[in-house]
Amino acid sequence: MSVRPSDRRDAPSPDLSALDAGELRGMVVRLRSENSSLAALSKFLQMQSEREKAALARELHDQLGGLLTPAKMDLAWLEARLGEDPQFAPRLQRLSKLIDEGIDLKRRIIEALRPSLLDHLGLSAALTWHVEDACRAANLECRTRFSDQVGRLPADIEITLYRLVQEMVSNVAQHSRAKGLDLELAPAPGGLRLMVTDDGVGIDDVQAALSSHGFSGMQQRVNGLGGTFKVTSTKGKGTKIEVFVPL
Ligand SMILES: Nc1ncnc2c1ncn2[C@@H]1O[C@H](COP(=O)(O)OP(=O)(O)OP(=O)(O)O)[C@@H](O)[C@H]1O
Ligand SMILES: [Mg+2]
Repeated sequence: MSVRPSDRRDAPSPDLSALDAGELRGMVVRLRSENSSLAALSKFLQMQSEREKAALARELHDQLGGLLTPAKMDLAWLEARLGEDPQFAPRLQRLSKLIDEGIDLKRRIIEALRPSLLDHLGLSAALTWHVEDACRAANLECRTRFSDQVGRLPADIEITLYRLVQEMVSNVAQHSRAKGLDLELAPAPGGLRLMVTDDGVGIDDVQAALSSHGFSGMQQRVNGLGGTFKVTSTKGKGTKIEVFVPL
């Protein structure tokens, strides 16, 4: 009989001491198999969500771009004819500013949905841009080291590592009160190693933090690639996150 998630909450925990070795082994096998099905489902849903975001980004680029670009051209036409007239000039200027804001908003939304540098220049360039931008905004000193040996990677690995770094950097900016952040991406035996370190206040209770949404999302993304995720933190001395992804 299958168990629905809502039933599980109320299901009594089995008395493990009453089970013999064979039953316990069976239970471990079942749990492992359920675990790997959940990891596969989680990876599928994440990749599906990335595909939908990329499609939405393309749609916004084409449709919204198709509205804003001609509006800007028509406005330039009007400005050339009426821009000197004090009756029209302030309204035309305001309209121009509004259209520019719309174009900028469109660009930012598209970039958040699907980082264009990732598609055009690859992971190192996209991460450099993102980390430097986020560090500037958070007034953090940042150091990035990307090994020359890390070239273009499979698309699912590039987007996963990008989303991981987005969350890690956002956590450092939000929670760490750090002065600096180090990011390193380098080959490791059998795969790649990503390391993000900060010199901030550290995490009080790493175990509790790991079950929070941001961290569990990161762990699920890494599990989906068959990798490992490790957090080391000392109170007052900062936090280090190490990720290994097999290639
Ligand atoms: N670099 C860090 N330095 C200090 N504390 C951190 C750091 N990263 C995470 N934390 C702590 O771990 C907790 C859990 O982080 P997590 O990313 O899971 O959630 P969040 O950032 O609070 O919320 P969300 O990511 O959903 O916006 C944070 O609330 C914070 O207390
Ligand atoms: Mg977070």
